[in-house]
Amino acid sequence: MMRVVSGIQPTGNLHLGNYLGAIRNWVRMQDEIDAGNRAQVAEGGSAPKNQCLFFLADLHAISQPHVPAELHRGSLEMTAALVACGIDPARSILFNQAQVPQHAELQWLLSGTARMGWLNRMTQWKDKAGKNREGQSVALFSYPVLQAADVLLYQATHVPVGEDQKQHLELARDIAQKFNNDFASEDAPVFTLPEPFIPPVAARIMSLRNGSAKMSKSDPSDLSRINLSDDPETVMLKIKKAKTDPEPLPGELGGLVGRPEALNLVTIYAALADRSAEDVLREFAGQGFGAFKPALGELLVETLRPISQRFTALLEDRESLDAILATGAARARTLAGPTLDSAYRALGLVRA
Ligand code: TYM
Repeated sequence: MMRVVSGIQPTGNLHLGNYLGAIRNWVRMQDEIDAGNRAQVAEGGSAPKNQCLFFLADLHAISQPHVPAELHRGSLEMTAALVACGIDPARSILFNQAQVPQHAELQWLLSGTARMGWLNRMTQWKDKAGKNREGQSVALFSYPVLQAADVLLYQATHVPVGEDQKQHLELARDIAQKFNNDFASEDAPVFTLPEPFIPPVAARIMSLRNGSAKMSKSDPSDLSRINLSDDPETVMLKIKKAKTDPEPLPGELGGLVGRPEALNLVTIYAALADRSAEDVLREFAGQGFGAFKPALGELLVETLRPISQRFTALLEDRESLDAILATGAARARTLAGPTLDSAYRALGLVRA
């Protein structure tokens, strides 16, 4: 059985890092699983259990200061953005955590298993808390336990994410393993150990202004990222202003060592064109950024055009977006039930 599960925080805009590092792979996995399911049914097999679940991590979003009205608007916008990118609510279960209370329930049950030391080692916690650990919310610290609950609740087998989420998923595996060891028998584990799926290219898209910082929603400079809703002029301007160096492009990847901004732009081009970085370098070898940047800008504009057109149209129908999330949440609640029951039972917790 294949269960693909992944999430995104509905804060800020969907940017190119999210798209190339995660969402594009969500869509690809959805399409592959759907094709496999159809083939199985056509061959007269039993109803397939393979399934994709994608959600808005709105419960995670309250771990840092936020404006409630913006979170609500952000959730609807992120739903529209995901559908515009190709997530099909008829074939994947698309929902927000807040409508599936089992996520928060399982988080508490897993909190007895997760260790303080494990959470203390999380680089995202260290980065976000900085020097002010005492002033952070408890939710920011226990954030990875909720993330573990998100995937373990559905017996996820594959979790498509960008490189920055790898450590959180390793923690989810550690929690699942310890829970199974402590509270389940070897032949009837409560949780499946999830496998992160990190793309071979574009797993870490960097800021356009600083090649050693990842592209992120929280960067104060909008010039640092390409948003999927940016219009063509804005995309071309951001690429034109992207930081680079005066050297021409080399013929081989080795020539990009120590040139993080150049490597980032070549990586983006290669990922968008579905080509290898080596292949892109062979084409542009010896050319400067004056030639490469317009080519990259145009490729971006062409990729984003249909997505941003669908996004704008979808946003106009707020009721349909609400309905997508309500339907997805009802399906997710049903799927979550059995695993949550097993976790309560394994812990010896009595429920009527
Ligand atoms: P979030 O909302 O920060 O990002 C969503 C997805 O986008 C990927 N990503 C990137 N990939 C490549 N380059 C970048 N610059 C870049 N920036 C972001 C992230 O790796 C992620 O896959 N904690 C998660 C949300 C979450 C989740 C989960 C994910 C909650 N529960 C369970 C997987 C499974 C987060 O904040 O992602």
